[in-house]
Amino acid sequence: MRIKQIVLASRPKGLPALTDFRTEEVTLPDLKEGEVLLKPLYYSVDPYMRGRMNEGKSYIPPFEVNAPIESGAIATIAESKDKNLQPGDVVIAASSRPLLPWATGIIRKGSDVRKTDSEIPPTYYLGLLGMPGLTAYFGLMDIGKPKTGETVVVSGAAGAVGIVVGQIAKLQGCRVVGIAGGAEKVKMLTDKFNFDVAIDYKGNPDISKAIAAACPNGVDIYFDNVGGEISDAVVNQINFHGRIPLCGQIALYNSTETPVGPRWQPTLLTRSVLLQGFVIGNYASRFQEGIGQLAGWVKAGKLKYTETIEEGFDHLPDALLGLFSGRNNGKMIVKV
Ligand SMILES: NC(=O)c1ccc[n+]([C@@H]2O[C@H](COP(=O)([O-])OP(=O)(O)OC[C@H]3O[C@@H](n4cnc5c(N)ncnc54)[C@H](OP(=O)(O)O)[C@@H]3O)[C@@H](O)[C@H]2O)c1
Repeated sequence: MRIKQIVLASRPKGLPALTDFRTEEVTLPDLKEGEVLLKPLYYSVDPYMRGRMNEGKSYIPPFEVNAPIESGAIATIAESKDKNLQPGDVVIAASSRPLLPWATGIIRKGSDVRKTDSEIPPTYYLGLLGMPGLTAYFGLMDIGKPKTGETVVVSGAAGAVGIVVGQIAKLQGCRVVGIAGGAEKVKMLTDKFNFDVAIDYKGNPDISKAIAAACPNGVDIYFDNVGGEISDAVVNQINFHGRIPLCGQIALYNSTETPVGPRWQPTLLTRSVLLQGFVIGNYASRFQEGIGQLAGWVKAGKLKYTETIEEGFDHLPDALLGLFSGRNNGKMIVKV
């Protein structure tokens, strides 16, 4: 069977271009006993994938040049030689091997996928109840340790992780300030997601002043999704015994030079601030706890979500690049 796959054509310097990807046709072998043929329905595109386009050691190996890109995905079974799986079943890759290649047909062992719950919208497995939601939950609750009445600032607030962080912080009784790019996004945060204040960093000439005005009692928790100048401005307002879950640095992912900025250490030292980086894989043994808590809030109507769903397998690279210009509201998904 002939299928299409999208491979990494070259390692980008700075912001990736569409020419860093290539679509090619390959032939899949016949299914063996115990295997299934998957047809992807939805793919997740995520900022961390930019790091995998670079060479070098990190917490996850780089993509290989000329090999398919891979990401989180939901698929349907097209053919099955596994007695537990039938054509039409909707599945996600098992957590031991959680990513699927960007390909229009994929062969996996049946034991390497698990069926999704038909009562949960399938895309939630890639967002709210998947990696981004868990990142928000564990980063905020385990590192941030929010207390009633505290002020929580979250950058990248209108994205897949940020909108969940803000809502969980509200559930903990905190005052929540979100930072995002554009008037429409900040309106969404206050109107739909119950943020107390939202700051448009793109439309605001003085982000430091805006943060100080939005946080008259200082900042107790800064959930950092972006890094760069936004984070420098928030850290200026951090309180004694503040906590900074260091989740992402998307403002720097396409930097070609080592970024230079103010040194935070004196502020962290004199205000006894905890700064802790984390990757969500650290919490793998607690994922069921996180999913249970998030699903409970969803069922109780306490946690809402939004997704930007772009269409077409060929559109995957463009959707990934769209994360770096903020084209998404909430989770960016590609419907195949
Ligand atoms: N530690 C972990 O395990 C873990 C897990 C998941 C995600 N993350 C990190 O968490 C962050 C958010 O991830 P996500 O999945 O929720 O992505 P996302 O927010 O859904 O998408 C990326 C968003 O980043 C913003 N952005 C892009 N370039 C920016 C820049 N130069 N300065 C400021 N904002 C910029 C854009 O929103 P605007 O329109 O607001 O600019 C864009 O919509 C990323 O840094 C990601 O790498 C970490």
